[in-house]
Amino acid sequence: MKMSKIRLCGAQKSFRNGSGEEQLALAPVDLEIAAGEFVCLVGPSGCGKTTLLNLLAGFESPSSGMVEIDGQPVVGPHANRIMIFQDYGLYPWKSVLANVLFGLQARGIAPVEAHARGLQALELVGLQTAARKHPHELSGGMKQRVAIARALAVQPDLLFMDEPFAALDAFTRLHLQDELLRIWQESRTTVVFVTHDLDEAITLGQRVVLMAPKPGRIQRVIDVPLAYPRERTRDDFARFRRELYEEFHLVHRQAAVDAEYSI
Ligand SMILES: Nc1ncnc2c1ncn2[C@@H]1O[C@H](COP(=O)(O)OP(=O)(O)OP(=O)(O)O)[C@@H](O)[C@H]1O
Ligand SMILES: [Mg+2]
Repeated sequence: MKMSKIRLCGAQKSFRNGSGEEQLALAPVDLEIAAGEFVCLVGPSGCGKTTLLNLLAGFESPSSGMVEIDGQPVVGPHANRIMIFQDYGLYPWKSVLANVLFGLQARGIAPVEAHARGLQALELVGLQTAARKHPHELSGGMKQRVAIARALAVQPDLLFMDEPFAALDAFTRLHLQDELLRIWQESRTTVVFVTHDLDEAITLGQRVVLMAPKPGRIQRVIDVPLAYPRERTRDDFARFRRELYEEFHLVHRQAAVDAEYSI
């Protein structure tokens, strides 16, 4: 059998709360992700999505259990494993190109090669003409594309994305979803993508991992074997959408009734 790229085995995480008690943020999780796979994590607020991503990215270590990448325990952040956050994380005083080059320079890549790779990454996200601008001159969608370009420039082996499109308007969001899929299909990077948005999860993921809160855990893993690009108005898309919404209602029935998740 092919070795998994990512393997979580009984991985759990607890934090000490204000009164000094241990609280379980993530109950033991078992999950395997193959190389080149695109996996989405969805679930209500506080169900441990970011905690799980932080374990994978090496920003946190598990309280018990095992987190492995390429057969090796994750002991900390790694140069080829990149996290993209919701708030872009750009340096405001640096130009778009300088932001993209930063990661390459930090990895000791020679200036000429770094420059070429930086421009190529900006072209991939359609921002080559904005190279000299500064973040404050860009829209939210453009900033997020710079963050994606910066991540892609280092040709990461793994891309962890924590609600990267949550702050964007619906049009920009749909566009960036398509862009991300195109880039992923070209690069075949392994992607773990966190979102609140069930439609976004079905648009992007080959598998959707639905999580539940208190304590954070995996409720169900749904395979989405639809071809890309996925047509959101098609019946087969609707079938997966329904399945995920029904399961989500089970997880969060009251919230689903109260909030916008009901369909
Ligand atoms: N550093 C920390 N210290 C203490 N508690 C934490 C810490 N990080 C997370 N938690 C707790 O762990 C639980 C899971 O948090 P996490 O941020 O992983 O949820 P999430 O699914 O990403 O939520 P959201 O959708 O709101 O981003 C929450 O109850 C949170 O309060
Ligand atoms: Mg989170």
